[in-house]
Amino acid sequence: MTRVAREVGELRRMLAPARQRSATIALVPTMGALHEGHLSLIRSAAASADEVVVSIFVNPAQFNDPADLLQYPRDVHRDIELASAAGASLIFVPDPDEVYPVGFSTSVHIGGVAALWEGVARGPSHFDGVALVVTKLFGMVGPDVAWFGQKDAQQVAVVRRLVADLNLPVEIRTGPTVREPDGLAMSSRNVRLSSADRDRAAVLHRALDFVKHGIMIRENDSDTAIAAGTDLLRTAGIEAEYLAVVDPDTFEPRPRLDDRPALVIIAARVGPVRLIDNEPVA
Ligand code: PAJ
Repeated sequence: MTRVAREVGELRRMLAPARQRSATIALVPTMGALHEGHLSLIRSAAASADEVVVSIFVNPAQFNDPADLLQYPRDVHRDIELASAAGASLIFVPDPDEVYPVGFSTSVHIGGVAALWEGVARGPSHFDGVALVVTKLFGMVGPDVAWFGQKDAQQVAVVRRLVADLNLPVEIRTGPTVREPDGLAMSSRNVRLSSADRDRAAVLHRALDFVKHGIMIRENDSDTAIAAGTDLLRTAGIEAEYLAVVDPDTFEPRPRLDDRPALVIIAARVGPVRLIDNEPVA
């Protein structure tokens, strides 16, 4: 049976027997509003760990826009049922003051990869807020393994940087992006798309594929492929905030491709909703 903890002390007590018998503890951090993308991570975690902790916490520290924080979809009862059916053994649902009690004064600042793309669009506080809560969750849960989705590729690169720089004793594993049948990456924010915008939003993934194939055909020249992808988006009335080909670890632009891996990344507003996505270039 899946247990639910709301406080750190309770969480640690529930995990103590597993720790004592050296069971493998996996953590899947989420902000709730669970969909198939989250559930696939929970299933992967459950396939290779004895205890699977799913945290559900809408982290105020990583929102630069108060309206976005307020509008963030929340349905904890549904989330608990879904996470439990997918294989979570323990669900951690702290209140904001459990995570950030009165007097909280510590910050985590990440430079390098965190300063680019999403770091520019959402401001430096976004990835600092992610890094802070992830560091805290690692401290609270003490997982052997933590799972993150490739959908948020820059977040994965930031978390890997954090773990390496602070010698955090956690193995980071990733799960592939789960998509709707028309290619739209699943996201908790998709429910806020009108039905017309929902149809248009599929062009983001088509543009990523377009750039990816364009690069492979046009002798590895990223700029020409990006220009073609940008035109495709415009036919659907969408202006990309960025569409770029980058190194998957540093997120530095890669104008010319060689045999190293690369990633095509995109962010665009579709109606009122800001969406991000990415595709590896094989
Ligand atoms: P959230 O957006 O809820 O996502 C939780 C995890 O699910 C992240 O690792 C994210 O990359 C993954 N995910 C989301 N959509 C996915 C999809 N379509 N396919 C595969 N994985 C997907 O990301 C966060 O929360 C927060 O920043 C968090 C890491 C919890 C820190 O607050």
